[in-house]
Amino acid sequence: MKWLRSVLLPAEGSQYARQVDDLYMFIVWLSVFFFVLIAGLLAFFIWRYRRRGPDEVTPHITHNFKLELTWSIIPLILVTILFVWGFHGYVSSVVPPKDALEIQVTAKRWLWEFEYPNGSRTINEMRVPVGKPVKLIMSSADVIHSFYIPSFRIKMDVLPNRYTQTWFEPLQVGTHVLFCAEYCGRAHSDMLAKVTVLSDEDYRKWLEFGDETSEQMPLKELGAMLHESRGCDTCHSLDGSAGLGTSFKGVFGTRRRLADGQSVEVDENYLRESILEPQAKLAAGYQPIMPTFQGLLREREISALIEFIKAQR
Ligand code: CUA
Repeated sequence: MKWLRSVLLPAEGSQYARQVDDLYMFIVWLSVFFFVLIAGLLAFFIWRYRRRGPDEVTPHITHNFKLELTWSIIPLILVTILFVWGFHGYVSSVVPPKDALEIQVTAKRWLWEFEYPNGSRTINEMRVPVGKPVKLIMSSADVIHSFYIPSFRIKMDVLPNRYTQTWFEPLQVGTHVLFCAEYCGRAHSDMLAKVTVLSDEDYRKWLEFGDETSEQMPLKELGAMLHESRGCDTCHSLDGSAGLGTSFKGVFGTRRRLADGQSVEVDENYLRESILEPQAKLAAGYQPIMPTFQGLLREREISALIEFIKAQR
């Protein structure tokens, strides 16, 4: 019955997904069984005990002790099985193994930030090794978000001023989708990120050297990729339309009015400073909401973003 699973449910990406699906399919089959049984008996009784003539009178039956016990005890046993099975699954979803790899997750309007044990950070992409338990320690910088990976069958609220945690063990190398499942404002739907499951070796290499493809990419292309993957595009448009941040269109080389009344030329150093210390020279008319990218971008990536912004005519 593998095919039915794949019709009803998304692909199983984690150990936990299998546990959830086993129980889910048990409930599906249990429901099918009782649906057929009850609907079948209903139809049969309608036919069997139909009224045959005007004189026919239904016998007066007050109760049937054996029958009542049967229809109480069987469901009691079944719901007890469901409870124990479900509780067992719940416990295993909230108690991570002791040796789990820990990743810090921060949700912000409107992006996901991940910090790994060695201090590397990524935005809107979580990278994990295959076949190892991964524990997530999550908090929010602003409102309530919800961390949801359908193919891992995990969903956990991410709250400000408090840590929540969840864990998973990916089954195979590949990518999965991560959603925010709590309406958190205008760009809630942009909190769509990627989970990349790497082989153990690729994961270790990546932690050390960064992405191979990005190392070889021309600066402008790398910048275009980062503009999207780091979530810049959530606030900074390329077509001149106003967002939560200034548009990048034709911005390089212009003079910009700042919130404190001064003005500054938009050159490489200004862009660099604005990426690393966004509130140092805040553009007039905008809120100080951009997070710092200090430590989040490798040196080459900062240059790439600047080259990309320069190229927006
Ligand atoms: Cu964050 Cu919805």
